[in-house]
Formats: sequence, structure tokens, C-alpha cells
Amino acid sequence: MQRIVVLISGRGSNLEAIVQRAAAEAWPARVTAVLSHRPDAAGLAWAQAQGIATAVVDHRDFASREAFDDALAAAIDAHAPHWVVLAGFMRILGDAFVQRYAGRMLNIHPSLLPAFPGLHTHRRALEAGCRVAGATVHFVTPTLDHGPIVAQAVVPVREGDTPQTLADRVLAAEHRLYPLALRWAVQGRLAVDGQAVQQLDGEAQHLFCDDPVEAP
Ligand code: GRF
Repeated sequence: MQRIVVLISGRGSNLEAIVQRAAAEAWPARVTAVLSHRPDAAGLAWAQAQGIATAVVDHRDFASREAFDDALAAAIDAHAPHWVVLAGFMRILGDAFVQRYAGRMLNIHPSLLPAFPGLHTHRRALEAGCRVAGATVHFVTPTLDHGPIVAQAVVPVREGDTPQTLADRVLAAEHRLYPLALRWAVQGRLAVDGQAVQQLDGEAQHLFCDDPVEAP
């Protein structure tokens, strides 16, 4: 059974989607620990209620990014994970940290990368007049929001959308996308070649989510 460590900063709804799909689909993997840099991250309490180990590495306790990264890596490595999953994790990680987990760390970003890396993706998509928006699951590399793309979900931008209504639509799509991409990873069904990621069974690496519904 492969071990997954999930890093969160807040609510943890992607974490919930992953834990639920892993159980429902009998993955050869399970989430063995949830870590956060914020003691008040709501997803920590949810994880504890599921009997999942949790730990906090509070970034305010460290004088430098390197010291924080080292402590976070130690907390992760205590669980000897096969996969490290960033799910709404809002800290920038240093190059050494990223290299340590190269090829086995995934992130979800709420835009159709390479458009809109960084923050405020939904507001920026609306300001740019985009007619579609979405989310991307990618391998993490040292350049922020830039690693090889595993899968993308596309949603429409609707008349009258605000950053919040668009975020809600994208988030529902994220809850389908991230478990799908992570399942492929734990099943060994992904091949990375430079920036390109191939799903080895030929499954579509995109979702079109018009009025997305939550996975059952
Ligand atoms: C998601 O939109 C994710 O893409 C972004 O932060 C949000 C996290 O939501 N990076 P949650 O904590 O998984 O509910």
C-alpha cells in the first residue's frame, strides 16, 4: 500500500475528495498524513476525525524559508510517503525541497496553466475576458505553477460571474480532477517526458465540466 502525504493550508476540500475517492475506488494507496503550516487549517480537524495522522509545521517558527523547508521535509519524511500532494498549499517551496520530491509531488492550480500562474486566478481570468476557465494538476518543479501537466479540467465562464462564482465552479471540477490524476499516479499509469505527461492507457487527460457535479 503506497503512502500519500497531503499538504494543506485551509479548508481541505480537495483533500476530502482524494480521501473519499481513494477509499471508494480501492486505490493501492491511502492518505497516511496531512500536514499544514497553519495550525488553524480546517482540513486538519477533518483529517483527525477520519483517523488520519496530522502535523503542523508553523512557518512563523522559522527564521528562513530554508529552515522551514527542512522542518517540513522532516515531518513529511517521518511518514516515508511515496507521494506528496499539495492541495491548496499556499507556501512557496524552495528548490532543494522541490528536488527532494521530484517526480512524486503533485499540485493543483485553479487555472488552465500556463495561463495565470500565481494568485487571484479567477479575478484575472474574468478581467482577461476568458470564456473558459479551469484547473490543472501538474508535477511540481522549481518554477512556480510550471511543472509537467497531468490533467486539466475546463469550465465555462458564465454571464455575470464573479471571482467567487467562478471559483466555486472550478472547485467542483477540481474535486473530480485531482482524484483522477492522483489515481493514475499511484497506479503507475503516468509517463513523464520533459514537459509532456502521457496517461498510459490512453485515458483523456482533460475533463469538460459544464455544470460539474460532485463525484458520488
Ligand atoms: C483550490 O482552489 C486550489 O486549487 C487552490 O486553493 C484551493 C484549495 O481549496 N490552490 P481546498 O483547501 O482544497 O478546499
